[in-house]
Amino acid sequence: MWTPDHGRAYQPVPYCPERLSAEESLARAAELRERMNERRTVRMFSADPVPEQAVLDAIAVASTAPSGAHQQPWTFALVEDPELRRRIREAAEEEERISYDGRLGEEWLSALRPLGTDSVKSHLTDAPYLIVVFQQRYFLADDGTTRKHYYGDESVGIAVGMLLTALHLAGLAALTHTPSPMRFLGELLERPRNEKAFAVIPVGYPADDCVVPDLRRKSLDQVLVRY
Ligand SMILES: Cc1cc2nc3c(=O)[nH]c(=O)nc-3n(C[C@H](O)[C@H](O)[C@H](O)COP(=O)(O)O)c2cc1C
Repeated sequence: MWTPDHGRAYQPVPYCPERLSAEESLARAAELRERMNERRTVRMFSADPVPEQAVLDAIAVASTAPSGAHQQPWTFALVEDPELRRRIREAAEEEERISYDGRLGEEWLSALRPLGTDSVKSHLTDAPYLIVVFQQRYFLADDGTTRKHYYGDESVGIAVGMLLTALHLAGLAALTHTPSPMRFLGELLERPRNEKAFAVIPVGYPADDCVVPDLRRKSLDQVLVRY
């Protein structure tokens, strides 16, 4: 079992990554910018299988994310079993029906309207994989002792961003799905008490007739302030 570093003495090791030329840096950055601008959240999946190793590699990429005090407070549950996906969909749709029938409130529903979403979550059974990301709210040892985790929300958010990036660059489509509340995910997957669901991410290829909402991203000028 992986054990946390709490209290271990500082042990520096050399770190000398290759320094790229400015030209190489610019070329890589420009290519990445273009490729990442092509990423879209997909809600209509093909049932076609995807290479499992590509999904495992993407999860491994996510797990290289920085985290508060290097506590790596994440668990990625990879769900392929169709019966389990069916049960997750059933439970998610039950919550989503309550949400869309009034729990969300008009302001939230208005924010969602341009996305065309509703309580039907067919992606949960159509996509060949679901990655359910759990945040470990605290470290829980086998003997039941616990340790506080720091900046868990931020750490898991960064890891999920890296996961989505890795999946996209591997040619796979994904959806960040956050049914609310999400407690049913921990119950169905029988996760330990220190873990709370953070997002469920269907992964696969877009359906042949896939469409996405016509959204515009903020330009660099609109998100950047310089001093
Ligand atoms: C934290 C978070 C939660 C989200 N939850 C949902 C969700 O529950 N259902 C859904 O259909 N999309 C969800 N999305 C996807 C967003 O709607 C989507 O990223 C946004 O509309 C921009 O579209 P794009 O990803 O294609 O650029 C979520 C995204 C994030 C980052």
